[in-house]
Amino acid sequence: MFSLRNTLTVALTFGTAVADTFTLTASLPGSPLDGLAVNAGGEAFHLGGSPGFYCPTSVGSACPNTTETIFAAELTALDVEVPGGQQVYVQANGALGFTQAHSASVPVGATIGGFVNVTVASDCHAPWEVITWKSPDGSTGGIEACSEVPVGTNGTAVYNVYAVTPAYNQTGCVKLAGLLASYLGTGAGFGAWQYI
Ligand SMILES: *[C@@H]1O[C@H](CO)[C@@H](O)[C@H](O)[C@H]1NC(C)=O
Ligand SMILES: *[C@@H]1O[C@H](CO)[C@@H](O)[C@H](O)[C@H]1NC(C)=O
Ligand SMILES: *[C@@H]1O[C@H](CO)[C@@H](O)[C@H](O)[C@H]1NC(C)=O
Ligand SMILES: *[C@@H]1O[C@H](CO)[C@@H](O)[C@H](O)[C@H]1NC(C)=O
Repeated sequence: MFSLRNTLTVALTFGTAVADTFTLTASLPGSPLDGLAVNAGGEAFHLGGSPGFYCPTSVGSACPNTTETIFAAELTALDVEVPGGQQVYVQANGALGFTQAHSASVPVGATIGGFVNVTVASDCHAPWEVITWKSPDGSTGGIEACSEVPVGTNGTAVYNVYAVTPAYNQTGCVKLAGLLASYLGTGAGFGAWQYI
């Protein structure tokens, strides 16, 4: 059942014209995290910095000039040129991740989709619309940013993006209002050949 689901999802993604592509920033007015871009890197999504990407030399100057992480298909995919595309998933523990190029493999227990638009109301801010996440059974939801020190760095923490899944148990995280989308409209190029 697990592999069937993935096969089906990939089949639907492949070759589909992507209408709405967008970039994302963390939304939490008044927080230092507010406005930081959501970037792909190391099979996860971090706030700020720059995206990890790759383009084969055979593609050469036809490679998109990657400067940002572009999402597609209601946050189920990355806006990439590589055949087969790259899907965005939510791991059982809540960590957002993405499939590697040429692979439909998602971690056991991961789900694809569940992102919804919501309007946030606040006493000191006009209502604004963000993207958040809801679990398939509706029991949990929300987006949090959790600081982690990636392996191989000198100890500088980064904030990775999580959805609040039923099994979510990260500590020391910041609950975001959501993710703010900037829609790019038709004619925008691919975000990358592939993100890595
Ligand atoms: C990327 O930028 C280079 C240098 O400005 C340009 O020659 C190339 O056509 C650009 N590639 C795309 C796909 O726009
Ligand atoms: C959220 O709103 C955008 C812009 O109106 C729309 O393109 C997108 O499909 C919506 N996403 C969902 C999950 O409904
Ligand atoms: C660690 O890396 C960060 C980001 O590259 C840099 O700003 C900082 O100076 C580095 N710290 C040390 C102790 O090397
Ligand atoms: C969080 O869940 C994981 C996986 O079930 C478990 O290994 C870990 O001990 C849990 N951490 C906390 C702080 O409960």
